[in-house]
Amino acid sequence: MILALESSCDDTCAAVVTHDGELRANVISSQGVHDAYGGVVPEVASRHHLELANLVVEDALRQAAITLDDVSLVAATAGPGLVGALLVGLSTAKGIAAARGLPLCPVDHLQGHVAANFLRLEDLRPLEPPFLCLIASGGHTFLARVEDHASFTVLGATLDDAAGEAIDKGARLLGLPFPGGPHLERLAAGGDPHAHAFPTAEKVAGLDFSFAGLKTALLYRVRDLGEEAAQAQAADLAASYQRAIVEQLARRCERALEQTALPALALGGGVAANGPLRERLAGLGVPLTVPPRALCTDNAAMIGSAARFLPAVPFPEHLALDAYPTGSRGL
Ligand code: KG4
Ligand code: ZN
Repeated sequence: MILALESSCDDTCAAVVTHDGELRANVISSQGVHDAYGGVVPEVASRHHLELANLVVEDALRQAAITLDDVSLVAATAGPGLVGALLVGLSTAKGIAAARGLPLCPVDHLQGHVAANFLRLEDLRPLEPPFLCLIASGGHTFLARVEDHASFTVLGATLDDAAGEAIDKGARLLGLPFPGGPHLERLAAGGDPHAHAFPTAEKVAGLDFSFAGLKTALLYRVRDLGEEAAQAQAADLAASYQRAIVEQLARRCERALEQTALPALALGGGVAANGPLRERLAGLGVPLTVPPRALCTDNAAMIGSAARFLPAVPFPEHLALDAYPTGSRGL
């Protein structure tokens, strides 16, 4: 059994995954304490991880009905992410692995998102490479060519904000609570997506993304309309803004599929919950796989899944492993 931990942002997560990819427990403790600030406060996140790490591990073991005696590999996210937050999860994993003399697998968070597709779930068959993978969350937005189970190539990434970040900032401008995604989607459902023309970063070459201009466009539109008119047109603004994000993501996927001729598309990250995005991507002519929501957003099951295919570091060498805030891919 693999015991995995994930703590790169504000979710404290532990999971138990078998070596052939069955999910036995997936515990996610969302801290919630950051919502009042409209974003994640790194130091607050680290402190909460410290309080929650052992509890989520105990919970995961209990849910899987196993003890540490059944664990043969410990895995943890080593980066990229908030370095203080990562250190808590990685150190907890080191402590458990050291106490048991077990190997530890340091997992790249982004590889984890990709590897969510390799889990064996009742309602979802594991996806076999090669495929195109779009990961869009509050922290990252990138397109990857997944050639095998252990690695991927970044084909394009955001040059500024992540898609989820743009969604949250746009939602905030429209007076919606954080995190804005579900609220924006709900408001947009009652609006006209063609009421306002918002930029879709067509000028950005290749397969990269850009959302900063879109965010500014919404800011100016709201300002030009004035508070009262903007309130009255909130649903139209939300629908148009959401459409611009969905269109940008979908057109990049379309372009990538044309260029690579990859036979399938997988989706991950919190933005994958968005209905209009799923609908649009389902129409691109290749099979679309979207893991269940709890496996799209940050979770430790995906870290355990990735660890099945990655080299582990034996004890005591793994005690020297370090967390990294930015990955080798520059993401
Ligand atoms: O993967 P995630 O839970 O956390 C990280 O960012 O790591 O992604 C959160 C992001 C937030 O920006 C949130 O607003 C967005 O996913 N999101 C959505 C929806 N649900 C969550 N965006 C659009 N539509 C949704 N239904
Ligand atoms: Zn993530």
